[in-house]
Amino acid sequence: MTSTRQWFLARRPRGVPRPEDFALREVALPAARAGEVEVAVHALSVDPYMRTRMHEGGYGYLDKWGPGAALSAWGLGRILEGYGEWREGDWLVGHLPVAERAQVALPETGAPLPLRLPSDTHEPLRWLHELGMTGFTAWLGMRCYGLPRSGETVLVSAAAGAVGSIAVQLAQWEGARVIATAGSAAKRQWLRETLGVAAALDDRDVDNFATALATAAPRGIDLNFENLGGAVFGAAIERLCPGGRVVLCGLVSQYNDPEPRRAPSNLSRLQFIGAQLMPFVVPGHEVRHWRHFQAEMRRLTPLAPRDELHGFERWPEAFCGLFTGKGIGKRVVVS
Ligand SMILES: NC(=O)c1ccc[n+]([C@@H]2O[C@H](COP(=O)([O-])OP(=O)(O)OC[C@H]3O[C@@H](n4cnc5c(N)ncnc54)[C@H](OP(=O)(O)O)[C@@H]3O)[C@@H](O)[C@H]2O)c1
Repeated sequence: MTSTRQWFLARRPRGVPRPEDFALREVALPAARAGEVEVAVHALSVDPYMRTRMHEGGYGYLDKWGPGAALSAWGLGRILEGYGEWREGDWLVGHLPVAERAQVALPETGAPLPLRLPSDTHEPLRWLHELGMTGFTAWLGMRCYGLPRSGETVLVSAAAGAVGSIAVQLAQWEGARVIATAGSAAKRQWLRETLGVAAALDDRDVDNFATALATAAPRGIDLNFENLGGAVFGAAIERLCPGGRVVLCGLVSQYNDPEPRRAPSNLSRLQFIGAQLMPFVVPGHEVRHWRHFQAEMRRLTPLAPRDELHGFERWPEAFCGLFTGKGIGKRVVVS
């Protein structure tokens, strides 16, 4: 029996989470059992959905975390003690405890995750972004649901973030004209100058957003890839063309509010213009789509910056920063 440091929820956050809402503890790590491998956790993802697990109620496809709960996250680990074809030194990508070391159960036959990568894999951190869950989310949203077409106008909110920035590029590859939103001038400049979007709008300037969107999309939008919710979502619904589509990927602007989350007051406009509303979550799509996604992303090689914070102790700082808009691309904590 050895031990490891691990992050726990100390108390349910009120509003925007703060580092004091989390507690670092030393816990016992039992030896790996048959069918498990021991990993040294190299990097951990921080994701907005984790905040929804910290609410007492509300919808969610994962268990809620109450005070004292052990946190878990998508992560990348180096195998210390192998089992079968999972050899020491290989990388493992999967849902891991937010700890420095962990025992991980190996997948059932045919399940794509957890994933094993050979020890000499180039830039394995890509499997926490464009080749991993955030890339998969953007890919599902655009390639299986939204299906942007050449000449269409597509709105992507929180577009300088992990999912949003990949979603922008997937729409551009299809020949769509992309309008992006982000909360800081630096992010909007990056979206314009590096990703080449047609317009980048300030989604934190809620009072002027609808006017800015109308100017950027005078003929309306055909597809709304929604990551934010709230007033920005309402403005997008108002601007949607008849027969338009909405891919409901997330509602991050509302994750710090008490449940339940509120729909925009003009939601019923979707009915009257014959629009399609397509909410989706990643779980349940892996078996059918994972391999196709991997093949396509390796061919497309999107620009996929990472916002890396170094030091396992910085996990709370990294997570809390998601809601104050720090960093471009995918936020990860590297040990
Ligand atoms: N459907 C699924 O299965 C699935 C899977 C993964 C993610 N998602 C969703 O995809 C969306 C993006 O997730 P991500 O992992 O790529 O995170 P991310 O966009 O990299 O980070 C979150 C971003 O959201 C913006 N934001 C946070 N709080 C906000 C607020 N109160 N008001 C306005 N903007 C706010 C910030 O961007 P700015 O600096 O630009 O304001 C922040 O950088 C989220 O809604 C998430 O829930 C869905």
